[in-house]
Amino acid sequence: MSDTLSPVERGKYAAATRASAFVETGMKVGLGTGSTAEWLVKALGKRVRNDGLEIVGVPTSTRTAALAREEGVPISTLDEVRWLDVTIDGADEYDPSLNLIKGGGGALLQEKIVATASDRMVVIADATKKVDALGAFPLPVEVIGFGMRTTQLLIEEMLEGLDVMGNSAVPRMDGDGLFVTDEGNHILDLHLERIGNARQLALILNQIPGVVENGLFVDICDVIVTGHGDGKVEVHDINTGDHEVVHIPSAEPDNLFRDIAE
Ligand code: A5P
Repeated sequence: MSDTLSPVERGKYAAATRASAFVETGMKVGLGTGSTAEWLVKALGKRVRNDGLEIVGVPTSTRTAALAREEGVPISTLDEVRWLDVTIDGADEYDPSLNLIKGGGGALLQEKIVATASDRMVVIADATKKVDALGAFPLPVEVIGFGMRTTQLLIEEMLEGLDVMGNSAVPRMDGDGLFVTDEGNHILDLHLERIGNARQLALILNQIPGVVENGLFVDICDVIVTGHGDGKVEVHDINTGDHEVVHIPSAEPDNLFRDIAE
């Protein structure tokens, strides 16, 4: 089975496996959304089932909640738990300051609320997510349905005065209809090519009426765990400056799939 994993998927698996070691019994853990976060939930589920790990997870989407239930990871809501020890989540891009673009999976709103309510945010990513400057990945912005076309125009107009290289805001579709988030909103994907000042853009976007939240995570991520196709994993802590390199054995996915199949 492990032969069927692409190098990118192996990198995601390796990063998630290493990051699961940040989780200890008694912790309240934010569970991210996306294909990398799925590996994390599976790794935590395996530890809950086999090693008696006792945690409470707070999922950032209905998708992640469903997977956590399948995997036997106990879950609760942020309102119940209030504050988390750590959130572990994927990203669409990260820059050298560990600022992120998130929301490729459409869950940026819950992801940002949960990450902000955590002592630490650990991001897990394959090596393709590392960029010098954010913006090649279209920036997701969650907007309410009412007046969405006007919100789109206001955003495009605002972008013309900022340090970005594009200004189109494209409604995200799901088949023939608009994509709908877990909160019942929609997503505009901003094609910017390069974002000169992520902090400024994040602040200005959220001042536009109709915008609920944007996918720029500035000064939220504490640790980046980057997985490579050969199982090499780099762990970089932006607060301490620590940099660690480990290897995650490539045979592990076989065991993981076997556990899931059982
Ligand atoms: C979900 O809304 C996103 O923020 C994901 O965390 C991000 O898109 C990364 O997804 P993958 O792990 O699938 O690349």
